[in-house]
Amino acid sequence: MKGAIVATIVAVSIAFAGEQFAMSDADRAMYEEMLQNNPADIFVEEGGELFEEMIGGEVVMAKFLGIKEEKLPNYIAGFPRYIKKMGAVVGLDQVMQAILAEKKKKPLKLDDPKMFSMLAYVKSLANGEKINININADKHIKASYKLGEKTYMTQRGGRGLSCNSCHSKDIIGTILRTQPLPDLGDNASGGTWPAYRMTKSNLTTLQKRFQGCMENALLAVIPIGSKEMVALEVYVNKLATDKQKEIAIPGLKR
Ligand code: HEC
Repeated sequence: MKGAIVATIVAVSIAFAGEQFAMSDADRAMYEEMLQNNPADIFVEEGGELFEEMIGGEVVMAKFLGIKEEKLPNYIAGFPRYIKKMGAVVGLDQVMQAILAEKKKKPLKLDDPKMFSMLAYVKSLANGEKINININADKHIKASYKLGEKTYMTQRGGRGLSCNSCHSKDIIGTILRTQPLPDLGDNASGGTWPAYRMTKSNLTTLQKRFQGCMENALLAVIPIGSKEMVALEVYVNKLATDKQKEIAIPGLKR
């Protein structure tokens, strides 16, 4: 049973953890300070400039998506979405790639730091909006959600772990190797990435964060922008939607 495996891992980790918990007092003080002044604000600002320069700003994005510019924040809060002219369920970064392609501009990779900054900027346009992914909007997003759920639940790798092994209701709150296991709905993961990761001193995206967990848990790492990755993002956004969480970019994470 997967519960038993995780219970063992957690028990072993607690034994090793000693008195050190998620954050030392010094870390906590730094976190409090960064909450006031998130170091990633500068990436969002830079992202805004790049977005204007490379994409052409909000007007161009709204036009590409076929919506009114003032509807953009609310619409952004519902991504990933099925975009008909792209024929797939996609993230906002992929929408920007498609706009660049349409303009016959130089392509930008999904894992380019410039793309991370632009993604942070675009998503920040929806700050304060409730995350509102609608998995019943069409059959494509429905299928993506199903795939996301499967990817989240499937036990893989040498230790036979799934995302759910560490992020399920019966395990969250326990401590694994000094880290409390977070509930991805309560933590509003769908609405707080791109975030500044204090342990990496850098801006990181949600899909990059997924990859971090895959590496840690010895699961084969799924490529950014793949169908499975976008589906995982759909699934995690649904968890936050169910908890009525809001978008708050850039997040600040350990
Ligand atoms: C072995 C346990 C384990 C597994 C398996 C695991 N995670 Fe995690 N995950 C963690 C821990 C521990 C943290 C918190 C780490 C920290 O605070 O730095 C975390 C953090 C996260 C976060 C950031 C939470 C936030 O605050 O926004 C996301 C997102 C996430 N995991 C997604 C996943 C996904 C998707 C999978 C499956 C591919 C997965 N995790 C598998 C242990 C795990």
